Amino acid sequence: MSESSATIATVVKAVREDRLWQRHMEMASIGATGRGGVNRQALTPEDAEARLRLLAWAAMRGFSTSVDAIGNVFMHRAGKDSTASPVVAGSHLDTQPTGGNFDGVYGVLAAFEVLEAVADVGIVTNNPLEAVVWTNEEGARFQPTTMGSAVFASALPLETALATTDAAGISVAHALAETMQRLAIPQRRAFRFPMAAYLEAHIEQGPILEATHHTIGIVSGIQGLRWFRVEVTGEEAHAGTTPRRIRKDAFVAAICMVTALQGLMYDTADTVRFTVGRFEVTPNSPNTVPGRVLFTIDLRHPSAEVLSRLGDQVDAVCHAQAHGCSVVVTETLYSPPVEFDPAIRDLLKQAATRQALVHMDIVSGATHDAKYMADLCPSGMLFVPCRGGVSHNEAESATPSDLAAGTRVLAEVMLALASR
Ligand code: GLV
Ligand code: MN
Ligand code: MN
Repeated sequence: MSESSATIATVVKAVREDRLWQRHMEMASIGATGRGGVNRQALTPEDAEARLRLLAWAAMRGFSTSVDAIGNVFMHRAGKDSTASPVVAGSHLDTQPTGGNFDGVYGVLAAFEVLEAVADVGIVTNNPLEAVVWTNEEGARFQPTTMGSAVFASALPLETALATTDAAGISVAHALAETMQRLAIPQRRAFRFPMAAYLEAHIEQGPILEATHHTIGIVSGIQGLRWFRVEVTGEEAHAGTTPRRIRKDAFVAAICMVTALQGLMYDTADTVRFTVGRFEVTPNSPNTVPGRVLFTIDLRHPSAEVLSRLGDQVDAVCHAQAHGCSVVVTETLYSPPVEFDPAIRDLLKQAATRQALVHMDIVSGATHDAKYMADLCPSGMLFVPCRGGVSHNEAESATPSDLAAGTRVLAEVMLALASR
């Protein structure tokens, strides 16, 4: 039986801006850096604490919880039809090392607020409703990004994810076991369990919505992404005695590689996104010629063809600039461009229109867990503006009213999907 539009409107009205904001501020205190941002990297004690806070709120509302083998956490509000698949929404609670207060956490809290609003109104939807926290979306501590959703969707083997180590040599398996022990969720969830639909609300993380005065972005898709790890090995030598002609300076080789790659990636339209975000020099001593450099490449483009053409040249460019060093280029992630389900985009558009919110179509420059759900069920995303488009930065900022507006659109679409 379908929820009447009057019931849906009642739930939309029950979305509480004050509660949503308060929850954001509570989450912002977990891993707070003291400079306005948070450092709550995946599977750290802070990440576990944020999840525990959410689980406490879920327990207060009587939502049941379950967890899968990579630590993705699901909060569940039962529907009338116990055989029906849930309508799921969510995002992540982990952050960059100098992260902001909205990237990821907004999508989780928006989904949770929808469950709360439905509970406040006291209706029972046909399909269950769920809010999900994906493990290690950021990929800052453990690579690659969107690890939890990738494992859930079988895009990354669980064993590979568990064996991944952070810079200190701690494995996902070890950090996950500690987190699981703290969460103590008895109910296990299978990977790839059927979902009726998946939705994700997120701050835009770019400047378009704010600059063009739009409150809601209807995300048409996510641009493609390739990650590479480049290991350059030279020879350590004395800085004072070793002539240039016999050096194998891994640092010099690496900066030549990065400079050549930057030339390759330059496009006048400024659409290619090329980032060397990690650069580690060994032994990192002022008077030793560096013997080893490790750097990472994050390459993005909306076109699969451009992404292939550019990414496929990385290995050759690095070898051409090796300057006597050896170089190993490993591709650690290939995530093709994704298009979201047209029917879900339509529902989001209709909801924004009905709620008189100014909206526009937008392509996501950032990557999100929704890209893996798009392979499994009808999926979609909505964006709200963030100040100056600033993200992956402690200064990240969004307004309570924009966050609530996005949540109301999310509520309307989740309810529509859960009442079919
Ligand atoms: C997610 O944080 C991304 O790198 O786009
Ligand atoms: Mn995010
Ligand atoms: Mn992020």
